[in-house]
Amino acid sequence: MSPLPPLDELDVIGPDTYMRDGYPHAAWKRLRKESPIHWFDLPGGVGFWAVTRRADIVWISKQPTRFINGPRLAIFEEGAPVEGERTFVRQLLNMDPPDHAKYRGAASAWFTPRAIQRRAGEVRRIARDLLREMAGEGEVREGDFVRDLAVPLTLGVLADMLGVPRADWPKMFEWTNRVAGSADPEFRAEDVDAGAGGVAAIEQTRNELFGYFAELAAERRKDPRDDIVSVLANATIDGAPMPPLELLSYYFLLVVAGNETTRNAASGGLLALIENPGEWAKLRADPGLIDTAVEEIVRWTTPVIQFCRTATEDVELHGKQIRKGDAFCLFYPSANRDEEVFEDGEVFRIDRRPNPHLGFGIGEHFCLGANLARLELRVIFGELASRLEEIELAGTPARLRSSFLGGIKRMPIRYRLLPE
Ligand code: HEM
Repeated sequence: MSPLPPLDELDVIGPDTYMRDGYPHAAWKRLRKESPIHWFDLPGGVGFWAVTRRADIVWISKQPTRFINGPRLAIFEEGAPVEGERTFVRQLLNMDPPDHAKYRGAASAWFTPRAIQRRAGEVRRIARDLLREMAGEGEVREGDFVRDLAVPLTLGVLADMLGVPRADWPKMFEWTNRVAGSADPEFRAEDVDAGAGGVAAIEQTRNELFGYFAELAAERRKDPRDDIVSVLANATIDGAPMPPLELLSYYFLLVVAGNETTRNAASGGLLALIENPGEWAKLRADPGLIDTAVEEIVRWTTPVIQFCRTATEDVELHGKQIRKGDAFCLFYPSANRDEEVFEDGEVFRIDRRPNPHLGFGIGEHFCLGANLARLELRVIFGELASRLEEIELAGTPARLRSSFLGGIKRMPIRYRLLPE
């Protein structure tokens, strides 16, 4: 047996590693055990402290003035917008107290459990339309689960809430792909200088998206409707209309956060069920397991790999001296397999209970869309459990080149789906 490499040589942040091998669970496991707060240098950039235990992520996330979101959204190995990120987009995820709560309040009424429950019928309708297309006459078929269901469902649901006309949905799809996949050459805008890396791609997409939503917001100020674009366009912060940068960044955030994440939980969840046929059989036999299954899918897939917090003061943690200004990288998938909390965390079990995963984060920035994501996943897997008679992979799933979002770009499947 070859000796284990030194901890400093573990790769927990290189996007190529994620694309090739998936999440570095073995590396995180070692870090949790041997060095739960561990410093990594970045080539040509500032380094970061990798935080891998659940308790530490909770402790840091629950002190929003001591450990702030502002300066660095997440850790990127290559060319991240660090300085000036605040002026590039200014949205909930890079705001801190006291602004953060004011801005979050502007949209939060749309995401309460009750408000989301009211959308259940519409979500089911969108899902059934897509499943009808996929099912055909109920014969064995091949398709790409990402393209045929995961993408159009999450996109359609969110676009509908925002109030984006159907004709413009493909544009939204392209924008989210470009932002989430900014480190993946497949999704870069053609006219972006490839050498400039992901930042230029995000900036160009931001400009297009800002232009689009500026027009839509202007229309909705004249003629408000029952949608999120109208609510935010007419919202006030401290008695004044939301400034343009914050308003347009809000739309930007919702489009990206609302699409890329649930899409990947859906694709990754189906993959887990295909790879664990016993769990799939359990869900089919007992639809009452859907709620615990959804939580387990979010724990298992943990589509958001990491967010960053920055220390505003010196602090000692597990014997490590953290300096003011240092960055913490909160690795959610690692927390979600922490052996201190999860029994057999490396096993996918749809009836896991309790399941205190951090897939949606924790504290002030806890995912605004968690109730919506849960609803979408309940609908998708509820429908599939009752109608999907046969399912297998028809090719290898293609992973996104990213150490920020755990994406599946394509997942070829062979299946037989009963028509309604
Ligand atoms: C399975 C799907 C999803 C996952 C795994 C996920 C994950 C997360 C995580 C980890 C955070 C950061 C939490 C923290 O820093 O403590 C977050 C924040 C956020 N999410 Fe989600 N998310 C999902 C779906 C959605 C959806 C459908 C929306 C809908 C619009 C959404 C909107 C947001 C927003 C706006 C924030 C920022 C909240 C803030 O800073 O106050 N997410 N999400």
